[in-house]
Amino acid sequence: MSTLSVRVFRSATQGGGTVPPDAALCAASPQGAGAFVAYDVPRRPAQTVLDVVTHIQRCLDPTLAYRFACRVGMCGSCAMTVNGKARWTCRTHVDAVAANDVIEIAPLSHLPVVRDLVVDMTAFFDKWAAAKGSFSATASRTDEFARVPPNSRKRRAIDETIECIGCGVCYASCDVVGWKPDYLGPAALNRAWTLVNDVRDGAGISRVRAVATDEGCHACHTHESCTERCPKHLTPTASIAGLKRLVALAALKGTL
Ligand code: SF4
Ligand code: FES
Repeated sequence: MSTLSVRVFRSATQGGGTVPPDAALCAASPQGAGAFVAYDVPRRPAQTVLDVVTHIQRCLDPTLAYRFACRVGMCGSCAMTVNGKARWTCRTHVDAVAANDVIEIAPLSHLPVVRDLVVDMTAFFDKWAAAKGSFSATASRTDEFARVPPNSRKRRAIDETIECIGCGVCYASCDVVGWKPDYLGPAALNRAWTLVNDVRDGAGISRVRAVATDEGCHACHTHESCTERCPKHLTPTASIAGLKRLVALAALKGTL
């Protein structure tokens, strides 16, 4: 059986101990205090990157911290940086990313590391809140179910956007988030676009105002890294462009 050479980011402190100096291959890391540690992992058919991380934790080093839940691309919790690019690891096959049987796994960029491959998503979801990313109900539970025609213009505008799983891949891939940490980012703005097109939602102009700030949709430089990397093949860049149009229209109408 062939072997995969895997370098995994480990935090400097590990449950009261430290990464062994002889295992620390790269002391200077963009992820902060820590080092890349090398492991040899057996290659398996149809092996995913998450399978690799799980093998390391279960068979080689039980102190390795990482996060996952569904393993089928639904929960969004398993995103990591794999050979320099943010990816969902449960749906990323080793064959697709391991050139010369070598793979490097690190935590997502632009978010603080809690430990090893686990990042703190608080800022990511705080920005969803800042973009008014929660549904604002206009009906009560005693009302009839709303009927939204599937072919209506607004419903079709969000056919894709509602599929976001909140994985953070777009956020970690966005250069603007790196330069401008207050920028709301592609996922929060994609969520805002979803809700401004939801005919059941009542937030109205207040959500448009929330994304019309210096940290909102106009901070996007249309690099399209979010769209290129989103594992669900969504187009947050198009959602942000839609918000820019809405903000411009509101400004012209004097309602901003
Ligand atoms: Fe993940 Fe795509 Fe949603 Fe961004 S837009 S959080 S990459 S599913
Ligand atoms: Fe749920 Fe990967 S473990 S999306």
